[in-house]
Amino acid sequence: MIRQLATAALCVASALIPLEAVAQPSFAPSGWDAALKLPEAVDRNPDPTIVEVDLVAREAEIEVAGKTVKAYTYNGTLPGPLIRAKVGNRLIVHFTNDLPEPTTIHWHGLRVPIEMDGVPGISQPEMQRGDTFTYDFILRDASLYWYHPHVMSAAQVGYGLTGPLLVEDPADGVGVTDQLTLVLSDIGFDSKGVLEPWDSGGPAGMVFGREGAYVLANGRTLPTLKARAGAPQRWRIVNTAKSRFFLLDLDGQPFHQIGGDGGLYERPVTSEVLLVTPGERFDVIIAPTGKPGTTMPLRALLYNRGYGSIQYRGVEEVLSIEFSKEPALKVPPAPTLARAITPPPREGATPVDMILTLPPAGADGNSEFHINGVPYWKAKPFLAKLGETQVWNIVNDSTFDHPFHLHGYFFMEVDEKGEPLRPMRWKDTVNVPLKQSVRVIVTFDERPGTWMIHCHILDHAEGGLMGVVQVGDKAAEHTHPKPPGPPMKHR
Ligand code: C2O
Ligand code: CU
Repeated sequence: MIRQLATAALCVASALIPLEAVAQPSFAPSGWDAALKLPEAVDRNPDPTIVEVDLVAREAEIEVAGKTVKAYTYNGTLPGPLIRAKVGNRLIVHFTNDLPEPTTIHWHGLRVPIEMDGVPGISQPEMQRGDTFTYDFILRDASLYWYHPHVMSAAQVGYGLTGPLLVEDPADGVGVTDQLTLVLSDIGFDSKGVLEPWDSGGPAGMVFGREGAYVLANGRTLPTLKARAGAPQRWRIVNTAKSRFFLLDLDGQPFHQIGGDGGLYERPVTSEVLLVTPGERFDVIIAPTGKPGTTMPLRALLYNRGYGSIQYRGVEEVLSIEFSKEPALKVPPAPTLARAITPPPREGATPVDMILTLPPAGADGNSEFHINGVPYWKAKPFLAKLGETQVWNIVNDSTFDHPFHLHGYFFMEVDEKGEPLRPMRWKDTVNVPLKQSVRVIVTFDERPGTWMIHCHILDHAEGGLMGVVQVGDKAAEHTHPKPPGPPMKHR
């Protein structure tokens, strides 16, 4: 359905703004993005409609900030290779686990069949070392997505196991030629390059959500991007950190948001800063400007996501933009794209309350996050009939933000009356700020199965803030995912 809407939207877009459909020339200096180049997965299928790649999860030595770090990787790189495809393509991934512990791959944000969702105990068995699995599905919606494990995910994502997946729509009408996929993350290691243990900081580390001290842009610390001042660039941004939020700032210059998790927005919206919480994606057009020959940082400003996130901390520089000597171009006006989006029908939608809490720590000093009074290992599934539309009232009664993620479906944010927030946009991860609530509407229109919901601060997820929605009547074999299990040591 969304694919049809996207097609309809294209007609609208080209009818309204024929100029946008014409690709602009490149304005970027040669080698402008060399320091941010992502490794790309090799498509070994000659059929232009099939992208067929190999991924191996394995430990590998990578360079970070001048140190050699033995990280968890896909194909030996951090982040894992960029998988590129066009909307409507079939993606086949031959995956091998060569890690010293079990893993799986979850395809974050994609409308995949349940068997391809990568959740152990629900959609596939855990893969032991040496196991292989073939993921095979159609890429139905254009956007930037990402892939990551769903076993010990706080540990494994923190150790480096993530990668981007870009599904392009060549006819999206955006027309900006200079494009960058920007994977934001962080990693922690000691002076010898040994990764910070997954359980560092104990229960307090879980409650805060562990952040690595090194901020990474496409796996590098503070890389330089070259640009011609005033020239437009299209950035597709994903935050793959397990806990860190990125409140991006380009010296107050505008971010024209044209899309997000589920593709283009109904219409663009302009903001001075851009908050990217774990799991979220944004599609933005920027035209950074400054004096030719100077540099300007992309910063991550302080953002209060709970106690400890702004105390004794500073602004981070994420990357540096180096303006070429060519004269600055006149900054282009805000883009005027349009996409026709039909919101889910709210008449008769079932209201569902989800209350997120952090009760006081137990006598043993351990803490748990709860949804509706229970951690995931005690939770019953939420239920939805096939075809049912639900309005979720997600109330955050805890003192930390929670980027809340649903597998397998896009939802839309709505107000207290159930009216879609404008511009309408499809999302799969939405931040629920501390002591606030967010409402979303979602239709479980197809693909019965057991689909996860969880906080994308992965320490919170494993600390209890997870659950499942059972869509359709077929009882799931297991009603909740495998608990994290006994502590596992890295190496
Ligand atoms: Cu990125 Cu369970 O998800
Ligand atoms: Cu959380």
